[in-house]
Amino acid sequence: FTVPPPTNEPTKNYAPGSPERVALEAALKDIQQALPFEVPCVVNGKEVRTGNLDKQPIPSTHAKHLCTFHNATPEVLKSAIDGALKAQKQWESLPWADRAAIFLRAADLAATKYRYQLVAATMLGQGKTIWQAEIDAACELIDFWRFGAHFVQELYAIQPKSSEGVWNRVEYRPLEGFVLAVSPFNFTAIGGNLVGAPALVGNVVVWKPAPAATYASYIVFKILVEAGIPPGVIQFVPGPAEEVVGQAIAHPSFAALHFTGSTHVFRKLWKDIGNNIEKYRAYPRIVGETGGKNWHVVHPSADVKNAVMQTVRGAFEYQGQKCSACSRLYVPRSLWEQGGFKQQLLDETAKIAVGDVTKFTNFLGPVIGRPAWDRITSTVAKAKEEGAQVLVGGGADDSTGYFVQPTVLLTTDPQSLTMSQEIFGPVLTVYVYEDSKWEETLDLLDSTSIYALTGAIFAQDRNVLAQTAARLRHAAGNVYLNDKCTGAVVGQQPFGGGRASGTNDKSGSIGIFYRFTSARAVKESF
Ligand code: SER
Repeated sequence: FTVPPPTNEPTKNYAPGSPERVALEAALKDIQQALPFEVPCVVNGKEVRTGNLDKQPIPSTHAKHLCTFHNATPEVLKSAIDGALKAQKQWESLPWADRAAIFLRAADLAATKYRYQLVAATMLGQGKTIWQAEIDAACELIDFWRFGAHFVQELYAIQPKSSEGVWNRVEYRPLEGFVLAVSPFNFTAIGGNLVGAPALVGNVVVWKPAPAATYASYIVFKILVEAGIPPGVIQFVPGPAEEVVGQAIAHPSFAALHFTGSTHVFRKLWKDIGNNIEKYRAYPRIVGETGGKNWHVVHPSADVKNAVMQTVRGAFEYQGQKCSACSRLYVPRSLWEQGGFKQQLLDETAKIAVGDVTKFTNFLGPVIGRPAWDRITSTVAKAKEEGAQVLVGGGADDSTGYFVQPTVLLTTDPQSLTMSQEIFGPVLTVYVYEDSKWEETLDLLDSTSIYALTGAIFAQDRNVLAQTAARLRHAAGNVYLNDKCTGAVVGQQPFGGGRASGTNDKSGSIGIFYRFTSARAVKESF
């Protein structure tokens, strides 16, 4: 038997009056009427209420919060780890097709019964517009699980050569111990993948979701339970990062970290894991996707209209809070004023409607919360002090929710603060280069930031595309030619970056599954 060949989950278009729009509006209403929800820890299949509470706000409105959640205490985390280790033997000895079936069923539940709930929860809790929530909490989540089952099948089929009288084979064993999954606020789907990829190949997982994505993560978790994940195999333990993660990585059976989040936190965890190295039974696998300072570079031969549209989408969709978001733009002098680039960029940016995501005509929602709002607004203020010119936007309003206008800055210093530091907000900085300095500009781009997650090259000259992609080989793990640098699709563009952007193990591809297996080679002679 084989896993059904996966196809990417089509997006619903939610046209006004369409059945899906009606269903989504009903899901939003249900959540708004019932909130705030209470989210427990779930350990060994049992809900645990620790009474150590935190709130997940609704970034569009200060008036309400989405849920109150119970933080894991050290005792709860201990029982989560112990329970996961107990569940391990049975889970890893299950035929792989039975594990795959659970995830295929979970994907179907996410595509049907829970789709609108997932999308609505992600809109409200993480401040996504309907479209951004659909491509994340519905399509990408479903794709991760459906393609995941398929990638596992492909992985297990990769076998060595045998010869007469000898049968060689490789067993892709899960890791000995538990995987710690630490998921971010910005994609509901990523949580589903951080737990799904290791569990599909037989690992047990302790999952600490981002506080700002607790409610949607809890729905993801409950879908997995309904689909048949046995108690203990995935333990749901929200909680303060330092404590939960610190305790988990100090455990002798800690086997892997599957992380998406900031570079700063990832580096700290890596060091802490290093300091604990003698405690572990095996060298832990460390898999992380972290920051970015993603770029668009426009060649004088580029199609201006396309480059502008892709840049506006790449920079501002989901308020610039995708790890892949474009935040620095290199444009040639010849296209900037005379070629109409500047005017089109300003016009398109000025058209963007910002506001509450439940008003479906808004293209930009709020940023995730108070610290993000403060960080973004103070970075823009600092950039201005340092000489950047605000071409459009620059405003922000936190009176009702955490709103920041899409902002385009112009700088004459290609190494300035907002050309080199990650902002994680709707702020794009433009550097206009002299056409004669194309080659120098590429070197500059390559050396300006510590990151290498995504980038995009715009040129109609095919040789330029090829040469530039080769020259910037290490400047991004995902490079796009004449397209925006966001929006990797599972099974189509394996995702991840190098340098300080992560371990580049490529989510949405077979690559990630290698990291959560430890192969055993078996030679049998006849
Ligand atoms: N995978 C997302 C994208 O490509 C970012 O995490 O936009």
